[in-house]
Amino acid sequence: MRSNRIITGDATEQLKKLPDAIAQVVIADPPYFNVLTAQDWDTQWPAVEDYLRWSEAWVSECMRVLREDGLCFIFGQPGKREHAFLHLMSALCRKHQFHDLLIWDRVVGYNERRDSFTPAYEMILVLRKGDPKFNKDAVREPYSPEKIQTYLRDKRYKDRDARMRHLLAGKYATNLLRVPSLKGSSKEKCGHPSQKPIDLIAKLIACSTDAGDLVLDPFLGSGTSAVVAESFGRQWLGIELNPLYVEVSQSRIASTGDVHQAKGFLSA
Ligand SMILES: C[S@@+](CC[C@H](N)C(=O)[O-])C[C@H]1O[C@@H](n2cnc3c(N)ncnc32)[C@H](O)[C@@H]1O
Repeated sequence: MRSNRIITGDATEQLKKLPDAIAQVVIADPPYFNVLTAQDWDTQWPAVEDYLRWSEAWVSECMRVLREDGLCFIFGQPGKREHAFLHLMSALCRKHQFHDLLIWDRVVGYNERRDSFTPAYEMILVLRKGDPKFNKDAVREPYSPEKIQTYLRDKRYKDRDARMRHLLAGKYATNLLRVPSLKGSSKEKCGHPSQKPIDLIAKLIACSTDAGDLVLDPFLGSGTSAVVAESFGRQWLGIELNPLYVEVSQSRIASTGDVHQAKGFLSA
């Protein structure tokens, strides 16, 4: 199967053509259902039941295509008052193996509400098939210099060099991923209304894959997963229905060298 390419077409139909157990990770950021109400692709289902049926079909295909030691990340958010993702999570966890529920803290709130807290997070449901590969060291977070100095003053640790090595390695990341969403003025922004930050997708790919593994994104959008996979030396395969977004992705992927340098991805 040829990788590092975008397939223009419908996710479910195209997934059906892929062989079993080829993807190490699936990064799926599908239409949310009536959250981005200005986008035809987010409002194409007459009722929530239609959206749930559609979602269960493509997720089943993704799980078939996933390797036994792989992970499937599925984005979703409640939006203003829309609760489709809550029902979807419940349905998927009954059918597939639950692995984790990540919270993406977007730092900046969105959808200002008069009568409630301002929403500031999205959810990422993680499904597994068997015993997954997971590299916790790849997503460690650095301690601040001040924290390092404070911890070094702790008298309980006799071996200062060993303590220093441990502190410089950073701490294990929690399942609350704090990555600012992209502002309109961000250099990364390329015109897609639901473009995810490279730093967020990088965490998902870094923890779940090794060099050479295949990253599959059935809703590629502006190509963020492909850009990260390319930068990390992973194989990738993207599916996207809208030919305009396919063009955007292709031009972003063609300039991944710049991203690679800017983000210092060499260590991943
Ligand atoms: C939430 S966006 C993905 C954004 C992407 N993660 C990024 O960083 O740019 C969902 C994408 O799914 C695409 N889409 C909608 N219906 C689809 C379908 N049936 N098959 C494949 N792609 C579809 C939309 O055109 C849209 O680009």
